[in-house]
Amino acid sequence: MKSLRSFVSRYPIYTLATTAIFGVVATLGFAEDTNKNGKKLVVGFSQVGAESGWRTANTESIKSEAAKRGIDLRFSDAQQKEENQIKAIRSFIAQGVDVIAFSPVVETGFEPVLQEAKKAGIPVVLSDRAVKVSDPSLYKCFIGSDFIEEGRRAANEVVKLTGGKGGIAELVGTVGSAPAIDRAKGFREVLEKYPDLKIVMSQSGDFTRAKGKEVMEAFLKAPNAKDITVLFAHNDDMALGAIQAMEEAGIKPGQDIKIVSIDGVRGAFEAMKDGKLNVTVECNPLLGPQLFDLIEKVAKGEEVPHRVVTQEGVYEQSQAATELPKRQY
Ligand code: AHR
Repeated sequence: MKSLRSFVSRYPIYTLATTAIFGVVATLGFAEDTNKNGKKLVVGFSQVGAESGWRTANTESIKSEAAKRGIDLRFSDAQQKEENQIKAIRSFIAQGVDVIAFSPVVETGFEPVLQEAKKAGIPVVLSDRAVKVSDPSLYKCFIGSDFIEEGRRAANEVVKLTGGKGGIAELVGTVGSAPAIDRAKGFREVLEKYPDLKIVMSQSGDFTRAKGKEVMEAFLKAPNAKDITVLFAHNDDMALGAIQAMEEAGIKPGQDIKIVSIDGVRGAFEAMKDGKLNVTVECNPLLGPQLFDLIEKVAKGEEVPHRVVTQEGVYEQSQAATELPKRQY
């Protein structure tokens, strides 16, 4: 410190030049993102939890994008509890953040807290999952997958694998969550056209691997267990848990019981490569860049679309080996 002070007093011209260079660099590209008052952008984000590989990738995408943009991200993990999310949103309002973003655990129950945010003049952006509200202006934008379409895609794959005949065991996501409701809806919509393809068992595995295994074990012990020819899991983590349960019961997953799941995480591709999972329907968690593009616009008071749908594909076993090295999550 002492030597720095003596350098500055001896060579003021160099010090001045260095300060100017840093100023130009900051202006040219390393500047932090700002709100409409020119201050660092402050965003409160309430995440569902850490229930799946998908969620971990989603959190990482959000945190790294905020850091890249120099955004002050106030991140809160709700541990899959709606009351924790409501508390977090109230705390973001009290902190006076510029924008609130969140991925709602379930669809209902958020209207009052969203009204509080609106009253405080803080815009809200929904990420990944939607809410059911009577007033759509309570949030500016919802970015995420079309879960109904994912359910339809999964059903079409089940039809292809079974020839339209068989008994389906369904591992449902978190009860009351948008992906669980919509995926079940889209799946049944397609199934209506195939009277010989029936859901013989259906239960929630809460989107976790441990619960997926537990519920599959119960399915396999049920009196009608022999009717199961195919498993539809609302996410890959539950399918991976179910694979373990099948193997422990001496059943060959992917052969004795065909398996279709949703997400497209690396673990699913590994299971497909090993012949244990048949199809994964993609649900893209890497929402960070698109989400913050929208948040920045919202913070500046610019118009944004009320709904942004992410683009996704479907992957079968035959593609697993070539796709696996390319997977980012
Ligand atoms: O909302 C997206 C879903 O939530 C993913 O499919 C699931 O893995 C996650 O927990």
